[in-house]
Amino acid sequence: MKNLSNRRDFLKTSALVAGGLALQPFSMPQAYAAGADVIKIAVIGCGGRGTGAVFQAFDTGHNIQLVAMADAFRDRIDKSYKPIFDKYGAEKVNVPEDRKFVGFEGYKEAIKLADVVILAAPPGFRPDHFEEAVKQGKQIFMEKPVATDSAGIRKVLAAAEEAKRKKLNVVVGLQRHYQSNYRETIKQIHDGKIGDIIGGQVYWNDGGVWVNARQPGQTEMEYQMRNWYYFNWLCGDHIVEQHVHNLDVANWVKQSYPVKAYGTGGRQVRTGKDHGEIFDHHSVTFTYADDTVIFSECRHFPGAANRVDESFQGTTGKAYLSAGNHGELTSWKGKSLYSHNRDNNPNPYQVEHDELFAAIVKGEYKFADAENAAKSTMTAILGRYATYTGKVVTWDEALNADINLMPTTLAWDAMPKVLPNADGFYPFAIPGKTQLV
Ligand SMILES: NC(=O)c1ccc[n+]([C@@H]2O[C@H](COP(=O)([O-])OP(=O)(O)OC[C@H]3O[C@@H](n4cnc5c(N)ncnc54)[C@H](O)[C@@H]3O)[C@@H](O)[C@H]2O)c1
Repeated sequence: MKNLSNRRDFLKTSALVAGGLALQPFSMPQAYAAGADVIKIAVIGCGGRGTGAVFQAFDTGHNIQLVAMADAFRDRIDKSYKPIFDKYGAEKVNVPEDRKFVGFEGYKEAIKLADVVILAAPPGFRPDHFEEAVKQGKQIFMEKPVATDSAGIRKVLAAAEEAKRKKLNVVVGLQRHYQSNYRETIKQIHDGKIGDIIGGQVYWNDGGVWVNARQPGQTEMEYQMRNWYYFNWLCGDHIVEQHVHNLDVANWVKQSYPVKAYGTGGRQVRTGKDHGEIFDHHSVTFTYADDTVIFSECRHFPGAANRVDESFQGTTGKAYLSAGNHGELTSWKGKSLYSHNRDNNPNPYQVEHDELFAAIVKGEYKFADAENAAKSTMTAILGRYATYTGKVVTWDEALNADINLMPTTLAWDAMPKVLPNADGFYPFAIPGKTQLV
């Protein structure tokens, strides 16, 4: 088995993920340590997650002030601002009208005003938003996934390098890295409790998410952005948007990234005009350099059996993990080797902010999650390329592919690259016909 060399490669390229970074000082003002200065935060993308992340930043208990908000749409800022203001008040929520930035470019101004930025727009925009935050030298919390195509991943990888060079803390909302059952169980797997990992199965099967139907008067750009889940340039398909969590766990357990993918997928129940171009099921086998195969399945079928979890098989035992605080290791004969206590585990969405802001107030450089997040997002994109084409796609082909789904111009009257036909339906991939590039 080539396991050990793979492990070394993984550690070489991503030893800086999620708290694995040796403590190093960085150049934030030391006044934070004394609690004398306010830490200014800005949120880019004021939807469900951006708003939730602001709450979590405040709930760290540090001296934090929200100073700017940016969103493509004014109504989304208003909807986000009200509950934040109602809970935390004028002293902490200092966002006058001229610091509410609406449209495609506002993120640059909002980032300028903050020490720490929360990046929570739809993932297609993340590469530009992350690149800008790094360029401006900010501490960063950004949501997953971190891109939707090969060009975006390459941009995030380059910015991740720059963030390391500048010693900017970057935490990514792959929150299983901040969830105690995953941390503790995977540590035991890495310590060899079930031997070498030789197989696994990861799932995100559920009934699907919201649909924002087309409204009269919307331009094509506005419609796609309001209904962003169903367009690949914005969302990446649900294999990227949701299943990245489970694929990231597989990479974490394997301490490696897959070398190729082969899969099948399609649209069985997602057939409406407002269902854009994404599939409703993907089933992929990811092969790693040591020939381990991880089977991955994600689907959005209302009424079918749900399953969101990860299982792994080792040479001497097996593992079961889920976001419900499961962490079980057993021998092949069924003897329990580890069982995570499922009671009173801290909320990982809070832990990621607690740990980020604790590092910031101490002036420590501790988190460099972006590279792993980019590679786990790339894993999910690789899966999508495999299901869309029906072909075996290698990691190198996928990462280097000339695929950039973003519109050439971002403006309300500009056209995205995917457009509906005369009946209002969008083209979607046909495995066997669709080409990678
Ligand atoms: N870690 C998790 O468990 C988790 C959970 C939910 C969402 N998320 C991630 O958070 C991100 C946002 O998801 P959400 O559920 O909050 O979606 P949402 O639609 O509620 O919010 C997205 C917001 O971004 C805004 N936006 C769109 N384009 C923008 C642009 N160019 N600049 C600034 N703002 C823009 C939208 O108008 C909207 O208000 C996604 O990447 C999603 O995958 C992560």
